[in-house]
Amino acid sequence: MNQDELKQAVARAALDHILPHLESDMILGIGTGSTANCFIDALAEVKYRFDGAVASSEASAERLKSHGIPVYDLNTVSELRFYIDGADEANEHLHLIKGGGAALTREKIVAAVAKEFICIADESKLVDVLGAFPLPVEVIPMARSHVGRELVKLGGDPVYREGVVTDNGNIILDVWNMNILNPVEMEQAINQITGVVTNGLFAMRPANALLLGTVGGVKTLT
Ligand code: 5RP
Repeated sequence: MNQDELKQAVARAALDHILPHLESDMILGIGTGSTANCFIDALAEVKYRFDGAVASSEASAERLKSHGIPVYDLNTVSELRFYIDGADEANEHLHLIKGGGAALTREKIVAAVAKEFICIADESKLVDVLGAFPLPVEVIPMARSHVGRELVKLGGDPVYREGVVTDNGNIILDVWNMNILNPVEMEQAINQITGVVTNGLFAMRPANALLLGTVGGVKTLT
């Protein structure tokens, strides 16, 4: 199985996971990226069994709409039973690094509202220690240099992601060489830097389940 097939397998496993719970008035939280896209495409097959979705990016919103799935503004929604999204790295505690697709802030907001965050990924994303993948940090543009200097003090090597503007009009710094032994503390420390909108560590609100696509089948970590 290649990586695309693993992503499709894990997307289908996530669909199987939520299918028994779908209700006609239910709204789902939907993430961003190639694995989330596989899930959106699978979800389209059962679009008459739920009401609609809240998307974590404009790109996912467009993909949902292209399948005829209604997309809601999160402010009009009081409850999300599930949030389904990918990750760039995950550890066995279901702490994640996200934001490779620059959607981390909206992803974190939707995850915060959802009752159950189901993370879907191929097995290459599972690591012992987070941080080999550069940690994305969304930053208010005028604070770029200040935030960069503060991230160096925390031990990282921030790199400006050229040419990328987030859906919120901000920039991304990708922080290399972070050996993240305490993800909760690191998430909090980076959020304390003035000018940071959010960072791609999902440790204070980890996933509830991690569905991992492996050559031997889909494994579930909880
Ligand atoms: C986007 C994300 C994605 O979930 C993450 O980048 C994984 O993407 P993919 O499924 O394409 O590997 O956090 O901001």
